Amino acid sequence: MKELQVGIFGLGTVGSGTVDILTNNKEIIQTSTTTPVRVKTVCVKDTSKQRKVNLHGSKLTSDPNDILDDPEIDIVVEVMGGIEYSKSVIEQAFKKGKHVVSANKDLIALYGKELTDMARKHNCHFFFEAAVAGGIPILRALQFSLIGNQIQKIGGIINGSTNYILTRMQVEELSLDKIIDDAKRLGYLEADPSADLEGYDAARKCAILASIAFNNLVTFDQVYVSGINNITLEDIKYAKNLGYTIKLLAIAENTESGIVARVHPCLIPSSHPLAGVMYSFNAVYVICDKLGETMFYGKGAGDLPTGSAVVNDIASIAKNISFNQKPEYGYKILNESRVLSIDEQSFSYYLRLNVQKNLINISDVLNIFDKYKITIKTLDKFEKKQNGNSSLDYIITTGTSLEESFNKAVKEIEDLSSINGKAKIIRIERGL
Ligand code: NAP
Ligand code: HSE
Repeated sequence: MKELQVGIFGLGTVGSGTVDILTNNKEIIQTSTTTPVRVKTVCVKDTSKQRKVNLHGSKLTSDPNDILDDPEIDIVVEVMGGIEYSKSVIEQAFKKGKHVVSANKDLIALYGKELTDMARKHNCHFFFEAAVAGGIPILRALQFSLIGNQIQKIGGIINGSTNYILTRMQVEELSLDKIIDDAKRLGYLEADPSADLEGYDAARKCAILASIAFNNLVTFDQVYVSGINNITLEDIKYAKNLGYTIKLLAIAENTESGIVARVHPCLIPSSHPLAGVMYSFNAVYVICDKLGETMFYGKGAGDLPTGSAVVNDIASIAKNISFNQKPEYGYKILNESRVLSIDEQSFSYYLRLNVQKNLINISDVLNIFDKYKITIKTLDKFEKKQNGNSSLDYIITTGTSLEESFNKAVKEIEDLSSINGKAKIIRIERGL
């Protein structure tokens, strides 16, 4: 029986996990693929580096052509990261008729459709399950397992490092900057942590999720994004008092007026299944018209969880080749709905106002909300002592309002002379 030969670009966290699983679970993989799969060559930057895995005779090289020019290699796995070089490696692989697996969310969020068009042109398989939520097989579920359903809405915790930070802030009452070093040490944060903290990593994954769930191209720049940098312990405590937990959510929704794609901190009821997703775990909550609600939960990062998703893609390709199946692609752009701007969407809000004691006349604030027809659901007042000064925190939750009107109301409130600084605003997610 012909062995399928794999060439891997990258032997870091994900590459090592992939080689480990392909080696140690060889037999179980073969029961599914029927064809044996072998790693023939691994290409890295620096061949002299100490490696975490035993390559069992696979060739280690720094010359990309040892993979790209090898006619025996059927499947190319790109787990290097970065954009331009990885894109060119994948394009060259397709031109040579090689099938491709990638874990590269940054690349797919920008060029997923373009690369899929190229794969289609060359009749090659192209999978990238590991690009969203690491080991959770969410793209495969959206693409294959939920056929028969119209996917209406997705709410995901798809960035493990920020979920780890928010969980520890909530459980241990530590401030964000005290936890960042631990998140770095544990390898959860990207090399540039702002990609996680400012929400861009989750926004990239959100663009991929929305494109695949709704068969409608959503690009990274169309996703509204706001990160967790400004979330404080006070907000976490006030939210808890109101029965909410703060999570960084990626929300994708297919509405009659257009596609929603947004990533930002949300207050969700503490009884919601997503509120119980702790530390670096990821979860994707999917609402479909026939199945109803379902949640996919698991590890969103790390060598073996992410390697598991990469191996799943390799095995799917091997199986398709064994059974002569034609390629099927994640990016099937059948619809061209507009992506809605955040100003066009409506939310309920949590608002924290810090005010000067004795100077505030809260009816001035309420009158402004009234002018914009924004209802107040709860209003609480807490004394705050800081650096010998005493002030008041007003915590207000509102009924639903158009974002644009809400922002206008907040601007007027911030201009009141008794208000200290900017209002803190967090959207409340009620539709999950
Ligand atoms: P990593 O640990 O930094 O490993 C990168 C690997 O790529 C290294 O082995 C490096 O070689 C190799 N490499 C870099 N530039 C190269 C070049 N020009 N030619 C050949 N090899 C090159 O990265 P990672 O964490 O495994 O991530 C890989 C990809 O998976 C990224 O796209 C990432 O976004 C994605 N991903 C990662 C995770 C995760 O948990 N880590 C989860 C989901 C998706 P040397 O070893 O010689 O330096
Ligand atoms: N930095 C990413 C996260 C790694 O925190 O989820 C996995 O994509």
